[in-house]
Amino acid sequence: MSSSWSTYITIGVIIQILAYLWLLLATSKTEVEGADSENDTGHVWDEDLRELNNPLPKWWLNLFIMTIVFGFLYLALYPGLGNIKGLLGWTQEKQFKEEYALVHEARQEYFSQFKGKSIPELAKDPEALKIGGNIFANRCAVCHGSDAQGAIGFPNLTDEEWLYGGEPEDIKTSITNGRHGVMPPFAQVLGEEGIKQVATFVRATWHGKPGDPTLVEAGKQKFQNFCAACHGVDGKGNKVIGAPDLTNEIWLHGTSDAIIETVLHEGASGTMPAHKGVLEPEAIKVVAAYVYSLSHNQ
Ligand code: HEC
Ligand code: HEC
Repeated sequence: MSSSWSTYITIGVIIQILAYLWLLLATSKTEVEGADSENDTGHVWDEDLRELNNPLPKWWLNLFIMTIVFGFLYLALYPGLGNIKGLLGWTQEKQFKEEYALVHEARQEYFSQFKGKSIPELAKDPEALKIGGNIFANRCAVCHGSDAQGAIGFPNLTDEEWLYGGEPEDIKTSITNGRHGVMPPFAQVLGEEGIKQVATFVRATWHGKPGDPTLVEAGKQKFQNFCAACHGVDGKGNKVIGAPDLTNEIWLHGTSDAIIETVLHEGASGTMPAHKGVLEPEAIKVVAAYVYSLSHNQ
């Protein structure tokens, strides 16, 4: 708010409150006289019920004055008049920060019971699993599903297959720093024919689906040239960049043959948001232990 607006609003508010005060006091001066005086409005109901125009009772008038005093006190202490900050220096942001610090401290204290324990240890601790499960339901289930089995584009966290690795540290790193897997589109590079060749090669070699040998042979060549750098010569993937294993039946982007080709045409990518800043390190460890337990607690 510009300072001229602020001054304008401040003066306007003060004049308005003073005007109310004047109105109250002015009308309270009217003397109460007999029923026949000029206070009689002349309105009569039920034959003898006459409406008078007497001033407010004293206690009621005083209540009004108290609200005006309260208003002035409030405006002096808290922000309310234009952009004047008020004597207490109160701000919404400051109050939020103070309350947040309290909650944060309480959480720190709560999570300190898990300090010094490793993720596999926590994965056997019922209290840690309960808390980890709650955090998962609040923060992770939207994407990975409440049963953690994922969906198309969102990896299943309960199986043995990992894009980035299933060791305790890998899981913790995935949650802390987030992940971003990018498969580039190949429509331009390979063309319709090339995509058909590579897809046929992948299916015939690793998924037992026989295909035209000339397509397979050409596809093999293209796979080595364009795909092996990320997915490996043996198609087993690369956990550093999150390139999936193409030799098993666990698919991130769907199972049908058509989907393999769509991925080749259009590329694919997935983003796992970073949670450092959002969850404390101990909370990340606890939810990592929960995730770890899903594939290791049999
Ligand atoms: C906005 C959606 C989203 C949320 C929220 C989310 N994730 Fe993810 N997560 C993903 C995606 C997408 C990937 C795969 C990234 C890729 O394709 O490279 C992933 C990957 C992962 C991985 C690596 C899996 C692997 O196979 O290596 C782990 C572990 C994980 N998430 C755990 C969690 C946990 C725990 C939470 C909650 C604290 C969480 N995620 C919240 C979308 C999400
Ligand atoms: C720059 C590295 C890179 C190259 C090159 C690359 N890919 Fe990928 N590919 C990935 C990543 C990363 C993903 C996972 C995308 C995600 O996280 O959503 C992926 C996903 C896929 C998928 C889907 C897998 C699933 O589980 O659903 C298929 C199929 C695939 N790639 C095949 C290929 C083929 C065939 C080639 C060669 C023409 C190729 N990729 C080249 C990195 C690469």
